[in-house]
Amino acid sequence: MRILERPRRLRATAPLRRLVSENRLHAADLVLPMFVREGIDEPVAIESMPGVYQHTLPSLLEAARAAIDAGVGGLMLFGVPARRDAIGSGADDPDGILNRGLSALVDEFGDRTVVMADLCLDEFTDHGHCGVLDDDGRIDNDATLERYADMALAQAAAGTHVLGMSGMMDGQVGYVREVLDAHGYTDVSVLAYAAKYASAFYGPFREAVDSQLTGDRRTYQQDAANGREALREVRLDVAEGADILMVKPGMPYLDVLAEVAATQDIPVFSYQISGEYAMIELAAERGAIDRDEAIMESLLAFRRAGADGILTYWATEVALKLRAEQ
Ligand code: PBG
Repeated sequence: MRILERPRRLRATAPLRRLVSENRLHAADLVLPMFVREGIDEPVAIESMPGVYQHTLPSLLEAARAAIDAGVGGLMLFGVPARRDAIGSGADDPDGILNRGLSALVDEFGDRTVVMADLCLDEFTDHGHCGVLDDDGRIDNDATLERYADMALAQAAAGTHVLGMSGMMDGQVGYVREVLDAHGYTDVSVLAYAAKYASAFYGPFREAVDSQLTGDRRTYQQDAANGREALREVRLDVAEGADILMVKPGMPYLDVLAEVAATQDIPVFSYQISGEYAMIELAAERGAIDRDEAIMESLLAFRRAGADGILTYWATEVALKLRAEQ
């Protein structure tokens, strides 16, 4: 028998597999999403996301320190306000919980890590939408951009390094860039959630931020059926001045991630979102899959698809694991 190619040869031992592996995870490429909540004295566990908490300001700093010490590359902060209104006033209030959290992170760790902020209204509005509504209850795209600009200025004033524009309004990147520049914030970067899909996998996040949303986000987030449309959104965000691109969710949209990463010349990140986290945690809890292996395999899939950075709720744990393996 003459078999010319034997690919199994390179799979024979763990050291060989390690040597020839095409992709590797690095702690520095992981970003930890975090939640800070107003009006609580103790961290609150998020039931649908075992191991993830709504933080107090002190516990936020503690968890941030653990992440940074473990080697995690950056932090992405979400705020959970005590009060909400139609225009999301808490979002651009310098004393609002998100901006206070950002200031605290920047003051404490600003020279050691990259502090990023979610720039979107949904956590702050009483209707739970990512934008403000017109008299007919529809999203008012252009009025929303004014709110985003005010949020951007507040986040920049707090010292935030990267603004994560996740609202999916038309023209949002260009308008926020223009306003930032006009106020001298030329060094503040924009992470554009260019391809963000309307997804059932955001489910646990709604609990995480105590979302008030009824209905869905299908008039602004993308339709799962569309791949090429993502390239259009990417083209627009790049033209408007995006510094980093995001594809989100992650695992159900790895085809989109792979295409964007292969065709763009700026960094491309992807977000392993709350439902992806919950699926693995809960399936493992029921004994259906091996938790640790599933986590590493899922993150490697992002790398293989071309992600330069990965937002994951496992960032600290995985960073520690990678260090132990070295
Ligand atoms: C919008 C935002 C959402 C997530 C990140 N930014 C929710 C949404 O668009 O419905 C979801 C993150 C996750 O599910 O882990 N502020």
